[in-house]
Amino acid sequence: MPSMAQPRPSSNHTRNSDSIARKDKLKKQRECLPIAPVKQRLIEEVKKHGVLIIVGETGSGKTTQIPQFLFDAGFCLNGQVIGVTQPRRVAAVTVAKRVAEECGVELGQMVGYSIRFDDKTSASTRIKYMTDGLLLREALLDPYLSRYSVIIVDEAHERTVHTDVLLGLLKDVLKARSNSVTDRAHIDNKTQNKSTLMEEENDRHRTAFLKQCQGRKLPPLKLIVMSASLDARGFSEYFGGAKAVHIEGRQHPVDILYTLQPESDYLDATLITIFQIHLQEGPGDILVFLTGQEEIEGVERSVQERLHQLPEGSRKLLTIPIFSSLPSEQQMRVFMPAPAGHRKVILATNIAETSVTIPGIKYVIDPGFVKARSYDPAKGMESLKVIPTSKAQALQRSGRAGREGPGKCFRLYPEREFDRLEDSTEPEIKRCNLSNVILQLKALGVDDIIGFDFMEKPSRAAIIKSLEHLFLLGALTDDCKLSDPVGHQMSRLPLDPVYSKALILASQLSCLEEMLITVAMLSAESIFYNPRDKSDEAKSAQKSFLSPDGDHSTLINVYRAADELLEKRKMEDSEERNEKNIKGKNEKNFRKWCKDNFINGRSLRHARDIHSQIRGHVEQMGLPISSCGDDTLQFRRCLAASFFLNAALKQPEGTYRALASGQVVQIHPTSVLHRSKAECVIFNELVQTNQKYIRSVTRIEYLWLSELAPHYYAMGS
Ligand code: CDP
Ligand code: MG
Repeated sequence: MPSMAQPRPSSNHTRNSDSIARKDKLKKQRECLPIAPVKQRLIEEVKKHGVLIIVGETGSGKTTQIPQFLFDAGFCLNGQVIGVTQPRRVAAVTVAKRVAEECGVELGQMVGYSIRFDDKTSASTRIKYMTDGLLLREALLDPYLSRYSVIIVDEAHERTVHTDVLLGLLKDVLKARSNSVTDRAHIDNKTQNKSTLMEEENDRHRTAFLKQCQGRKLPPLKLIVMSASLDARGFSEYFGGAKAVHIEGRQHPVDILYTLQPESDYLDATLITIFQIHLQEGPGDILVFLTGQEEIEGVERSVQERLHQLPEGSRKLLTIPIFSSLPSEQQMRVFMPAPAGHRKVILATNIAETSVTIPGIKYVIDPGFVKARSYDPAKGMESLKVIPTSKAQALQRSGRAGREGPGKCFRLYPEREFDRLEDSTEPEIKRCNLSNVILQLKALGVDDIIGFDFMEKPSRAAIIKSLEHLFLLGALTDDCKLSDPVGHQMSRLPLDPVYSKALILASQLSCLEEMLITVAMLSAESIFYNPRDKSDEAKSAQKSFLSPDGDHSTLINVYRAADELLEKRKMEDSEERNEKNIKGKNEKNFRKWCKDNFINGRSLRHARDIHSQIRGHVEQMGLPISSCGDDTLQFRRCLAASFFLNAALKQPEGTYRALASGQVVQIHPTSVLHRSKAECVIFNELVQTNQKYIRSVTRIEYLWLSELAPHYYAMGS
């Protein structure tokens, strides 16, 4: 693949003139953004109103410019911070990098970002980009968000579950901060009635913080809600008729092309369309919307394998993926211009709909699908489903082709299908398992979940099912308070409650080393890759890792093999003492090993990052970490004790029945246990395509369930 690296400057002189030219270019770009002419007006509006809704088309400059405007207007005097939340990690990281560059500062100094498992901020950070989930966590320690003068909730139209909860919480904080010190009781009351040791310990941070605030009047908090959808009404009404400002965008016409017939295989159709555009259309980059990392990497490989079929002398094609768990050093590649003689094909998830604006796009390919969470409260099961996009999403996607000039959008479905799409996507809070949210709200002192002022209330059934779920995991007491110590410990871990519980149990059952690896590997997407046309080769390469116990132990084997490789190299290399060489050699070795074993290096690196972060958390919490060594029985028992809500039993005809929900499921073909004789299994993921598949599966003994989770399995007996 051609390298996109810029040539290194050969002397200081060229470096200086390069950076001056770059600075000039950035300055000009900023001045041309649709938001530039309304800078003063926006600042005035923010000064005038406690809550402001800002609506503007993608690419108008909202995310990158508004925080800088407010910084210039003095909103960070007294060391206060402007916080900008994003639903997606990639957006927080790439935007922070861009803004740091625009401000001419080093990332992590005045401008920084903070996302789960990765923090690039310091005491001097004044503009801080972060995920909405992270700000929720900060509220646990600092209920008034006292270090912030302004909070910008960006991409609010996405209506992620974190955005919705955050908006509800911010409503309270706004009220408390608008009323000076005496009214703090408003929030303090919620945190009273603490009795247990653990709760007291948890509250020590808060008490310290409150002391700090004594006698110091916090300035009122400003809230800005930003959205790319034109309808600001919902947000405005929610905040008592808050003022909304619209920023004029600059959109060029986009030709929309549909297929005549529905496509039976949209990935195939995507591939054909990429090459068709490349060979038949004029210059301009292509943006393709896919549903996830696995699909993106599949299409990436297919494109690369067909590159040699391009006619001699034609322009080259360069694929660039972008999705949430992409390592941060690779994320910025989408923003670099294609080298001369190349056309970029950006393979993105719906992250490129509105969260990140990529320059140079003239063609958009939209197969019309998105991966979405879906929750069935009756069955208590959350699953990931690939579903058709909404009309609003389809319009956002096609809009990406007309940012810099007229463009074309290829919708890979017939025009009549478009008319059948839903107008907009249902807020995530109405279609997800709420355990995580409830755990966090409880930790924040919000006890009455059903009475919480959500912008859109989740169903009562979903709230009750999730409360029950937390109760079964031991996080809540009989009267629905956070339990001590388990509930409090769980709320401190930035993980799905069921994973947090697994870590706590594993610590007691002396297999926390194994569970840490398991949770990290499960948190990263698709560790193995199995190309359709090389599936036999892949299977035999991966054989050495397979464990007859199931996918969890198999993942541990992969992790440990990689660890051994990387650690061994480190030791050998430390004798060479040549830093640069070490890094290069290590990297090359690791990549070769991944390629030979059909392992996704990107995902594995991500898993290693996550591992070190969660390990840090459990160490801080004082959980004893030990390994069960070769005693896999112990580990499987721990999996059964942790994931008992996801157990399934083999049926006579060969399918499985999920015990909690009664659903008929099958073991996914990529699982080690596919076609095995396992009688009873636990699993971590339910995927729905035309069938219901369970993934990440380990065999257990049926009898363990009533022994290890008697409160659930022995209930009826
Ligand atoms: O938030 P909004 O969609 O209104 O726009 P933005 O993210 O602030 O982007 C403004 C401009 O900055 C766009 O033209 C982007 O192409 C550019 N940008 C960039 O080149 N590199 C980034 N990492 C982020 C933004
Ligand atoms: Mg934006």
